[in-house]
Amino acid sequence: MNAPWWQTGVIYEIYPRSFQDSNGDGIGDLSGIIRRLPYLADLGVNAIWLTPIFRSPMADFGYDVSDYMAIDPIFGELSDFDALLTAAHAQDLKVILDLVPNHTSDQHAWFIESRSSRENPKRNWYIWRDPAPEGVPNNWCSEFGGSAWEYDSATGQYYYHAFLAKQPDLNWRNTQVRAAIYDVMRFWFRRGVDGFRIDVIWHLIKDEQFRDNPPNSAFTPGRPPHEAVIPLYTADRSEVHDIIREMRSVTNEFPERLLIGEIYLPVERLVTYYGRDLGGLHLPFNFALLFAPWRARDLAKLIEEYEAALPRGGWPNWVLGNHDRPRIASRLSGGQARIAAILLLTLRGTPTIYYGDEIGIQQLTIPPERIRDPFEKNVPGLGVGRDGCRTPMQWTPTDNAGFSTGEPWLPIAPSYEEQNVATQHSDSGSLYNLYRRLIALRRSRPSLTLGHYRPLSVRGDVLLFARELENERTLVALNMGHEATSVAFDSGGLAGRLVVSSFADRDGEPINGRIDLRADEGAVVELFQNRLLPI
Ligand code: GLC
Repeated sequence: MNAPWWQTGVIYEIYPRSFQDSNGDGIGDLSGIIRRLPYLADLGVNAIWLTPIFRSPMADFGYDVSDYMAIDPIFGELSDFDALLTAAHAQDLKVILDLVPNHTSDQHAWFIESRSSRENPKRNWYIWRDPAPEGVPNNWCSEFGGSAWEYDSATGQYYYHAFLAKQPDLNWRNTQVRAAIYDVMRFWFRRGVDGFRIDVIWHLIKDEQFRDNPPNSAFTPGRPPHEAVIPLYTADRSEVHDIIREMRSVTNEFPERLLIGEIYLPVERLVTYYGRDLGGLHLPFNFALLFAPWRARDLAKLIEEYEAALPRGGWPNWVLGNHDRPRIASRLSGGQARIAAILLLTLRGTPTIYYGDEIGIQQLTIPPERIRDPFEKNVPGLGVGRDGCRTPMQWTPTDNAGFSTGEPWLPIAPSYEEQNVATQHSDSGSLYNLYRRLIALRRSRPSLTLGHYRPLSVRGDVLLFARELENERTLVALNMGHEATSVAFDSGGLAGRLVVSSFADRDGEPINGRIDLRADEGAVVELFQNRLLPI
């Protein structure tokens, strides 16, 4: 298979604060991640994406960077990072970092200079405006609630922040800002980093005329893209594509590096981020499954719309969970987390697994006194807090789930006694072993790795599709209902072998003419005949 690593592999998102603590301070760190690399290699993923590990006052847990070229002491030192990179590469794991170019921390030296006076050479590195007669320059809102404008009494102007006031937005119309961030990218690429996930990339450019946004258009991570009123003048501006092209050419200075972009937009806007002639992002994150109604017909439609919208040569990708959204195991009922795993790992396109979803970590309701997420603190009661999906990884059924010897920074989900790596590793029917079998299957079957997606008609609650490459064909049948069902095919149309089912006890079963599915069961079938399916 001569495709780039990011097309054939599986990406695993790590939220470093919560993965593995090695020094007992209750917060995960780089040495902890190094310790757990063999686990990831054994799971079968081939790349890890670390959410921000740069120096930060942690107002938004690393998404407020005060030095892009240093590691925050909570996580370790640059030498620990180099050790992580070496150890990961030795185990065939690529390392993707999280670049946050839209804004810095208000503690970044650039902002400290910028706010020091109107004449400072860095003044124009951020977005400063005079007050309007009513106060704030316009109606632009912060994604975290309230106005996006913060008044600075020392210099008598407002600065713009799409997120917290402690996260002032950089002025990407300024070529010096661009050059500075491109140097950051080169710094990490030279060290051997394999790619970047770029934070809120669709926000980089704002309207030059500062026109008011349509009402209610602040995007919140809790609002599905198709329901969101797109903030017309502060996001998805056409000039952002020029910047992405520049980022791509910086990336192309190094071999085999990857750019992923975080974008919450409806599919027809999302796919423009592959760029003209595909000179944009390799993978604009596709978050459709985060918001999808969990019904066979709706999912089939969503997959087909995405496939149809992709530009020629644009490689798809799928995401089931991330550090901003409720956990998949809690979003779905019954055995559907297993169906979700099969779907994620058999669709065409690079899958991203959120840490802990492979053992079914549940969303946790955090008691008010332990809430740490600034988003939740800013807009209490909205139920959009993100701490509940960021709780520590569950390694063992013992104290603190093996995450730390100290008090963890967030509580651990109480179900850790069953949902932990050690217990599930030794249970062949566990969710963890389903993930492991699926990843191994995906890697070993070219039709699953790189094959075409062929939609087949939905039958009741059963989502059916095939993946095909040359002579190899794989059928996927997912029962999204909570009752047993059976799907019959025209005679002679179906002969194969069940290679992975949600229930390990069926693996290897011969399939002829029909597939019987238990409640909540998904099946991946290796097809024998080299004919088109007659359904
Ligand atoms: C992205 C991150 C989120 C962060 C925000 C501001 O949406 O995923 O966690 O709060 O950007 O940087």
